[in-house]
Amino acid sequence: MELKLALIGFGVVGRGFTDILIRKKEFLQRKYNLMVKYVGICDMKYGSIVNHSGLDPHKALEAVRAGNSLEKSFDGVKGLSPVEFIDASGADVVVEATWTNLDTGEPAITHIKKALSTGRHVITTNKGPIALAYRELSNLAKAKNVKLLFSGTVMSGTPSIRTLVRGLAGCYVSEIAGILNGTTNYILTKMEEGLSFNEALRDAQQKGYAEADPTMDVDALDPSAKIVILANIAFESDLKPKDVIREGIRNVTLENIKDALRRGKRVKLIARAWSDGKSVKVKVTPEEVDINSFFGQVKGTVNAVMFRTDSLGDVYLIGRGAGGEEAGQAILADLIELIL
Ligand code: HSE
Repeated sequence: MELKLALIGFGVVGRGFTDILIRKKEFLQRKYNLMVKYVGICDMKYGSIVNHSGLDPHKALEAVRAGNSLEKSFDGVKGLSPVEFIDASGADVVVEATWTNLDTGEPAITHIKKALSTGRHVITTNKGPIALAYRELSNLAKAKNVKLLFSGTVMSGTPSIRTLVRGLAGCYVSEIAGILNGTTNYILTKMEEGLSFNEALRDAQQKGYAEADPTMDVDALDPSAKIVILANIAFESDLKPKDVIREGIRNVTLENIKDALRRGKRVKLIARAWSDGKSVKVKVTPEEVDINSFFGQVKGTVNAVMFRTDSLGDVYLIGRGAGGEEAGQAILADLIELIL
């Protein structure tokens, strides 16, 4: 089956996804009968191009990697705003991979609403719209009989959302706990090795783990958005990031970490959501966990989550939670879900 795809945002995530599609083209066709035709790419920096005959994704990657505009590299309809682009694209599915804005969710919310209301499936890795407007957007998708898929918003390609929605379908979930931010886990791991907070943060920034604005990581805004996304799915709630009791890792000192280690503990930034069936509570705070516990063994940029369920007890998932390849895999899995 051929899906016509329009991509908004051709940064690390959009390119990571495109790389995978090129690499796995034959495999996807053979195993899933999936063929993807790029009918448009729209990017703040590299311009906007629509061509219903299809755009060569390899050529698009080469163009932006050489610093060239897409508009100069392809024939087609050029210079459209993202909203005009969605209309003109004729796409079956819009992939929204622009930057995350946790204050308003914009401009991604506008892009997603436009795509859904014009009858297109949407796949996004963007946390802002899902943390801030999940109910409204998913109701719109239902009303339009299209799908809104966002598995890359939490733990990236490691399938936390799919595990919750599909794998644990029919379970009551009473609690979710997770290490949902790679940057802060990396900083805490490095501080155990003796680096100062600032040295470890610089290290994380240089390695590209941190958000463009690292306060999103350090002050726990990023994991707050992620636990809200999971909680709203599990508990049918309509929480917002502002409802999270939140404390980042700014005040965790080397002494706190060493003292904890002496007592057989590690300091971890744990995101937690729980429900008694009536109300839902959400928090992200530094916690001491036993060194040999599940979370105590999660080191570096790795993410992990635990779902407490009625029928299965505690279910655990661990894996990489950031990066272009990882987020690209999340988009691919969502794309395959559209045709299964
Ligand atoms: N800055 C985020 C992290 C990236 O460190 O986990 C993935 O959302």
